[in-house]
Amino acid sequence: MSFFWSSWITILSLGCWLFIFGVLVWTLRSKPVLEEDETTGHSYDGIREYDKPLPKWWLVIFFGTLIWGLGYFILFPAIQPNAWKGVTTVEVDGQQVPWTSANELNSQLQANNRVFTENFEQNILANAGASEATVVLAKLNELQASRQPGEDDPALQTQINDQIKLLAPYVDKLAADPEAQKIGNRLFLQNCALCHGSNAKGATGYPDLTDNDWLYGGDAEQVLLTIHNGRVGAMEAWQPKIGEAGVKATAEYVLSISGNQNGYELDPAKVAQGKAIFENPQNCALCHGADAKGQIAMGAPNLTDDIWLFGGDRATIETTIRHGRAGVMPEWQTKLGNERVMLLAAYVRSLSQNQAQ
Ligand code: HEC
Ligand code: HEC
Repeated sequence: MSFFWSSWITILSLGCWLFIFGVLVWTLRSKPVLEEDETTGHSYDGIREYDKPLPKWWLVIFFGTLIWGLGYFILFPAIQPNAWKGVTTVEVDGQQVPWTSANELNSQLQANNRVFTENFEQNILANAGASEATVVLAKLNELQASRQPGEDDPALQTQINDQIKLLAPYVDKLAADPEAQKIGNRLFLQNCALCHGSNAKGATGYPDLTDNDWLYGGDAEQVLLTIHNGRVGAMEAWQPKIGEAGVKATAEYVLSISGNQNGYELDPAKVAQGKAIFENPQNCALCHGADAKGQIAMGAPNLTDDIWLFGGDRATIETTIRHGRAGVMPEWQTKLGNERVMLLAAYVRSLSQNQAQ
């Protein structure tokens, strides 16, 4: 909160407290002069005012609230949080830190996480026969903790990725475990269904995770890396390079090789022209391969099947080539942690049919 608003609240709350306390003290001390009949002499429409002491229970409650308020001032950062942090502390990262609502939330999240991690290691991993994964996880945690926020360290990232890959065999064990699948399913519905759909069948721009067609690869290693680090599809706009005629020609060629040929009458001249552009090693072939079957290293999709990320009709293919595409899969390791990512990877693996590999 800004200095102004902190001061505003401090003045209001402390001021109110002092004011009420002052009024109370003042009324308790001031003794009105009484008439002989024990009234104060005030008369309102014939109703005369006595000076009786305030009821005890009322005073007790009133003082009680004042003390309660004072207690809050002492316990919590109620007075200019920069000046007075309060005496309450919570545990964050193993250290006692002054109470703030953010620290309290963090503290509770960490406590929850500890329970989850313990359960994950002692029950889920153990039941799936994958207890050795804890060694890899410990090393992975250590590497991740040494990462400096906001700093790019490719060497460290490579080490982290190598460690992630070591989790692959354990993910496959989890993928065969019904209990782990249940948790994976719940995590998927909470975090992934928004984009990939609750049945994981995807939508335009969001890949179907239940088929056997992968942008980035469907083995446990690749799926783990995808979920841990996220992915960004990089297909740049081609119209500036090959012109509108080139866009139309390559689209025609893509249609000719794809599984989606129903209903289209193709122009052989354009197909030939498009093929020449496509197969130039500097152009489309660079990523999609000369055979157009795609490359998981680039996330470039196979264009010879009838599975489309963005759409396989002529107009959509032309739009893709003309303007490019950049689908973003967010990273999850910092949001969910390594344990949950393992469960998710196992769940994703179990969805597709290529477990036999
Ligand atoms: C904000 C939307 C969004 C959310 C949320 C999201 N994804 Fe994705 N995901 C994508 C997009 C977009 C792609 C494709 C990236 C591309 O086009 O290159 C993708 C790709 C993937 C892939 C790679 C598929 C392939 O064919 O190689 C996997 C696996 C995946 N997501 C799993 C998950 C899991 C598990 C979660 C939940 C933790 C999740 N995603 C949450 C948008 C999302
Ligand atoms: C730099 C690598 C790269 C090059 C070069 C490239 N592409 Fe792509 N292409 C991709 C990637 C990556 C995607 C997926 C984009 C995403 O996931 O957001 C893609 C997607 C597509 C799609 C959409 C497929 C679908 O399932 O909807 C088509 C069609 C396509 N490319 C055709 C072409 C053509 C034609 C060329 C040459 C003019 C070309 N690409 C050049 C990387 C490339």
